[in-house]
Amino acid sequence: MNELNALVDSAHAAFGQAATPADLENAKALFLGKAGHITSLMKELSALSVDEKKARGAAINLAKQAIESALNARRQALADSELLAQLQAEALDVSLPGRRRGHGGLHPVSLTLERIEAIFGSMGFDVADGPEIETDWFNFTALNTPQDHPARSMHDTFYVEGGSSTAPHLLRTHTSPMQIRHAVQHVKRYRAGAQASSEGLFSGDMPEIRVIAPGRTYRVDSDATHSPMFHQCEGLWVGDNISFKDLKFVFTDFCRSFFESDDLMLRFRPSFFPFTEPSAEIDIRFQTGPLAGRWLEVAGSGQVHPNVIRNMGLEPERYIGFAFGMGPDRLTMLRYGVSDLRLFFDGDIRFLSQFE
Ligand code: DAH
Repeated sequence: MNELNALVDSAHAAFGQAATPADLENAKALFLGKAGHITSLMKELSALSVDEKKARGAAINLAKQAIESALNARRQALADSELLAQLQAEALDVSLPGRRRGHGGLHPVSLTLERIEAIFGSMGFDVADGPEIETDWFNFTALNTPQDHPARSMHDTFYVEGGSSTAPHLLRTHTSPMQIRHAVQHVKRYRAGAQASSEGLFSGDMPEIRVIAPGRTYRVDSDATHSPMFHQCEGLWVGDNISFKDLKFVFTDFCRSFFESDDLMLRFRPSFFPFTEPSAEIDIRFQTGPLAGRWLEVAGSGQVHPNVIRNMGLEPERYIGFAFGMGPDRLTMLRYGVSDLRLFFDGDIRFLSQFE
């Protein structure tokens, strides 16, 4: 009997050591297979007497049953741990936040440009777009800027390849060349319609020129309030009788809409620009909030110079108007309380996502 008990014990141990179902089947063959221990014990029975056979056979059967139930228990244990491992591997944490589609947002300066276009659009202004690589003619000469003007120096202007030494190409230093480009196209269109001579300055009837031209501009300049690439928005209104008073009205209306403040003060401070006469710098002052009480410069402006009116192809005896140029970057800083211009161009998502 001891020998059968020992056999059952060693089956227990062998099954316990089987780490996988395949190991377990191999161990089973050792005890219950055709050439296993139980089978060979059964074979030995034939040599015994009938009585001995009965007793011995019953004992072997008990051992066989014990081994079978050990086998089944181990099978179940292996299946359970396999299932457990699988469940752990495929675990799903339903408390994790779901996957969301990231949504982009407009850059703060783009928001400002859209706002400027909407406000001037409501006042009947067109929006014009033009090249960032300009010729010397459109950027300076046509705007009545003398050959020796400091803005033309290498310190201020990025010159680029192309053009000639007398007519160099450059990155536009302001959006003012769009005054000439847009007006020339406008005059060309209505001069043809009026069947007027295609030569000389135009003094026939035409719809007013009323346009803004936002876009990128470039200067050799870089600090907390200057970036080599920055934005400007030009404004131009030319017609029969458009004067400085219209400029004051339009720009005041714009600033109050832009900053959503009716008690915003404006100051037109005499200044000089080659393309306007008289010229003024426009300052604004908030009555409340963190910037209250300080005059802040937001634009240059003036009555369009007769030489510029001529370079548009118009007769200055008939056509007059005003122009202005403002800095959307500056307006964005004032509107959102941003103190360093470079933040706009660093591309830091932590900064930009605040404007979504
Ligand atoms: N172009 C000027 C600048 O960049 C700004 C400016 C001043 C534009 C007066 C104008 C104007 O149209 O009339 O500083």
